[in-house]
Amino acid sequence: MPGRLVVAVDGPAGAGKGAVCRFVAVKFHLQYLETGALYRAVALLSLRFGGLTEDPERLAGLARGMAFQYHPVKDRFIATLDGEDVTLALRDESVSMEASRVAALPAVRKALLDFQRGYGGDKNILLDGRDIGTVVFPEAQLKIFLTASVEERAKRRALELQERGETVSLPRVLEEMRLRDTRDRERAASPMLAAEDAVLVDTTSMTLAESQQRVAALITPALITPLMRG
Ligand code: DC
Repeated sequence: MPGRLVVAVDGPAGAGKGAVCRFVAVKFHLQYLETGALYRAVALLSLRFGGLTEDPERLAGLARGMAFQYHPVKDRFIATLDGEDVTLALRDESVSMEASRVAALPAVRKALLDFQRGYGGDKNILLDGRDIGTVVFPEAQLKIFLTASVEERAKRRALELQERGETVSLPRVLEEMRLRDTRDRERAASPMLAAEDAVLVDTTSMTLAESQQRVAALITPALITPLMRG
């Protein structure tokens, strides 16, 4: 990928990856892919076929064949699956849970690799996920591991659900967050891990605006040193 800048942002759920990445992608005109949405799209397909995690090869085939698009509309991003707008459906709790099962299947992870690696053609790209800096783009010029304490991440998630009008129990959100963290961290296939050369950004005591500025400050120098790339 000579010439283009690849920024990899990894970290657990609720660390602020989405809100931070949307902000810097728009600010620096980077082609952005939230790879969690890809896994969620496969999870949605699995659920629609009655649950396919017991048949990883069939699910991987569906993952390879799906037409997935992720594109900006103002400062939001819209996800479409085979032409259908699935942006909201992907956020459903049932999809979150299925996604963490789907993401543990090596055949599915392999099926999604080409899509991720080819994303954006020769444009500067920003991908967020769990294994971008370690597996998908180990050669990325800038790797960031965005994290926060599990208590803080659960608080943020509970607030987000409350704002959507849902009734939430913080202890339950915390428990689910811990469960997903454990699944993501302990699975054998591409576990969530900070790359050795990743810059660690702990957002526990940062506001969203502070997290966005911190990450923007890391991207600026990477964008203005194109001769060092390739
Ligand atoms: O970031 P998220 O909650 O939308 O991710 C959904 C699931 O997919 C989550 O269990 C982690 C998993 N995932 C992954 O294993 N690798 C990625 N690159 C992105 C997400």
